[in-house]
Amino acid sequence: MKKRYICPTIVKQVVGVMNKFGNVAMRNVKEDIDGANIEAMVEQYGSPLFVFSEKQLRNQYRRAYQAFSTRYPNVQFSWSYKTNYLGAICSVLHQEGEIAEVVSGFEYQKARSLGMRGDQIIFNGPWKSDEELKVAFEENAIVNLDNFNELHRAEKIAKALGKKVGVGIRLNMDTGTYPRWSKFGFNLETSQATDAAARIARSEWLELKGIHSHIGTFMLEPNAYSLQVQKMVNFMLHTEIEHEIELEYIDIGGGFPSKSRLKGIYLPPEVSVPEIDAYAEAVCNTLTSVLPNGRTPKLYLETGRHMVDEAGSLVSSVIGQKQLPDGNSGYFLDAGVNMLYTGAWYNFNIAPAVDTGGVAEACTLFGPLCMNIDVVAESAYLPPLPMNTPLVMWPVGAYNVTQWMQFITYRPAVIMVMEDGSTEIIRRKEVLEDVTGPEVVPQKLQLK
Ligand SMILES: Cc1ncc(COP(=O)(O)O)c(C=O)c1O
Repeated sequence: MKKRYICPTIVKQVVGVMNKFGNVAMRNVKEDIDGANIEAMVEQYGSPLFVFSEKQLRNQYRRAYQAFSTRYPNVQFSWSYKTNYLGAICSVLHQEGEIAEVVSGFEYQKARSLGMRGDQIIFNGPWKSDEELKVAFEENAIVNLDNFNELHRAEKIAKALGKKVGVGIRLNMDTGTYPRWSKFGFNLETSQATDAAARIARSEWLELKGIHSHIGTFMLEPNAYSLQVQKMVNFMLHTEIEHEIELEYIDIGGGFPSKSRLKGIYLPPEVSVPEIDAYAEAVCNTLTSVLPNGRTPKLYLETGRHMVDEAGSLVSSVIGQKQLPDGNSGYFLDAGVNMLYTGAWYNFNIAPAVDTGGVAEACTLFGPLCMNIDVVAESAYLPPLPMNTPLVMWPVGAYNVTQWMQFITYRPAVIMVMEDGSTEIIRRKEVLEDVTGPEVVPQKLQLK
């Protein structure tokens, strides 16, 4: 019988690590999350499984809050719902002191259902329906207007309510980073923002309370925030003099990176991603140097990714293996790209949750979907993986459990490792009725 070709594994010799046992390859095994054994969690809750760490989430918030609040006296974080709107995640951050930042009527309702009052919600986004604006105004939410059409509608709604309402305006500007985010808000450099402020100042029904801007996501350059804050404060001071008003807040949006491996960046995140203090320094130093003495408008931050990404892991198990034509191993996992939306931009850390022995070699990780694009990692470097080996991927806490798709398979359960090491389900695995519930099969098409 013809022998099967098995790709040889070449292990690089590194001077200094040889000992009497030879060259020992580093084993990269991640057996637990905050002390909770991963294999045991898979046994109890099934695979695949999203796992969030309450401790990591709280610590991350506290570090960020400390970095900003020790440098500026009036700081309020506001949780960006779209980054992760699982009720348990939002609740941890609300318990820590964050208010809510939402970009749709659905997110607004979700924040209200979790116990946020209207005045604890910042309502952003380029589209807010008349009804959504009406509710937000009635409930005194902090509404940042995006464009002139919305401004005009907001005025009509306030008039119909017979109530002069406070609003903010969203700005976009050049902060020296590209691509520029010009989709949202009023442009600063072309004086669109000045026109919007003037339009509000003339309105009988609207009152300008603050300014907002969000300059991008995974921003690796803290100086961009320096420039953003400088431009925002300049605009604020000009507007205040021009219209004899005093603004209450400056909202600088989100955008701080997590310790994630952005594709195309050679250096590891430990080297390429600045610490949160560098951002706090850039924002707060600029604020205190450009604001007039004694002025401390509220600084809102809508930090999403940085807060939650590292708190989330995905555990997925090996469900098959095949030798690929290039001789490398291809493994099938039970989690596909439909639940790892951010895999398009980031390379996750991947490690087995049990020590399988053997030397690491190049391999490809496929998802279970019957789609050729379902490749979770094109070039992973892992030891030979027996069937059912659980693999952990992280950080995946930001944007995946909101942008995941119910496609071909059910979405998996999500659990939280609590501060005391116990585990709780925070979203159960989907079942057929979750998918078919909203569907209607007309009478004449029914088969039974
Ligand atoms: C208005 C607004 N605020 C906050 C965020 C959160 O951004 P990030 O996750 O990069 O911190 C976003 C995300 O795009 C956003 O659009």
